[in-house]
Amino acid sequence: MSITYKDEAGIAGMRTACRLASEVLDYLTPLIQPGVTTLEIDRLAAEYMKQQGTVSATIGYQPSGYPPYPGHLCTSVNHVVCHGIPNEKPLKKGDILNVDVTVIKDGWFGDNSRMFMIGGEAACSVQARRLTQVTYEAMWKGIVMVRPGIRLGDIGHAIQTFAEGNGFSVVREFCGHGIGQRFHEDPQVLHYGRPGTLEELKPGMTFTIEPMINAGKRDIKEMGDGWTIVTRDRSLSAQWEHTVLVTETGYEVLTLSAGSLPAPAFVTPAPALA
Ligand code: MF3
Ligand code: CO
Ligand code: CO
Repeated sequence: MSITYKDEAGIAGMRTACRLASEVLDYLTPLIQPGVTTLEIDRLAAEYMKQQGTVSATIGYQPSGYPPYPGHLCTSVNHVVCHGIPNEKPLKKGDILNVDVTVIKDGWFGDNSRMFMIGGEAACSVQARRLTQVTYEAMWKGIVMVRPGIRLGDIGHAIQTFAEGNGFSVVREFCGHGIGQRFHEDPQVLHYGRPGTLEELKPGMTFTIEPMINAGKRDIKEMGDGWTIVTRDRSLSAQWEHTVLVTETGYEVLTLSAGSLPAPAFVTPAPALA
C-alpha cells in the first residue's frame, strides 16, 4: 500500500465525510449520561448515520486476523485503551469514555474520537480529568507540527515529549493512519518517535492523529473478544482523534463541527474552518 495524495475533489470529499463524522459525536454528546449503555449509544449513532446518509466504517470491519467488528462505533471505558465493543453495561458517574466514530460518505472516510466524562467533570477523579486534558493537548501538540517538509517523527516526538513530560505513557501498538477512500492507508502515524525521521509530509496527505495515553505503564493486552484493548496494569487510558489535511502552508483539521472542543491556547493562530 502507498500514500494517496488528495486533489481538490478528494479534499472536498474528505471535508464532507469528516464533518459528518464530527457531527455524529455532536449528536451523541447530550445523550451520553450516567445509566446509558454503550450499546444504546451505538444504536442512536446508527440511526443518526442513516439520517445523515453516511455508513459506519466499523460495522463488519475485518482486518486480516480479526473477527468482524460488531459496532457502529467504538466505546472505550476507563482502562480500555481502544476498540471497546458497545455492550449492555450502564455508564456510571466518574467513568471516562472514548467514543470513536468513522463514517463513509460518497466513498470517503472521516475518522474522529472524543473523550466524555460521565456525570460531568466534577464526578471524575483529578487523575481522570488531567489524563483527559493532557491527551487532548497531546493530540494538538502533534497537529500543530503538521506542514509540508516536516517528518512523521516530528509529530510523534512532540506528542511523546508532552505526554511523558506530564508523567503519562504513550501506547505504541496502535497509531494514526492515512485515510481517504480506504479506512486505514499508509502512512502509519506513530505517537512517539525521533525528530527528523520517517516520511516527509506533502500537501494533499490526509491522516489521523489519535494518541492513546495511559495514566500508568504503556503496556497493553487484548481481551478474548479479539478487539478490546486494555491497559495491562488496569490504569486509566484516554484518546482523542482528528483527521487532518496537509495544506500548502500547514494543516487543516477536517473533523470539526459545531460541537468540537476549541483548540488549546497554545494553538495560534486558530486553524481555518473548512
Ligand atoms: N476508528 C478506529 C481508528 O481510529 C478504528 C476502529 S476499527 C474497529 O483507527 F473495528 F475497531 F472499529
Ligand atoms: Co483512526
Ligand atoms: Co477512529
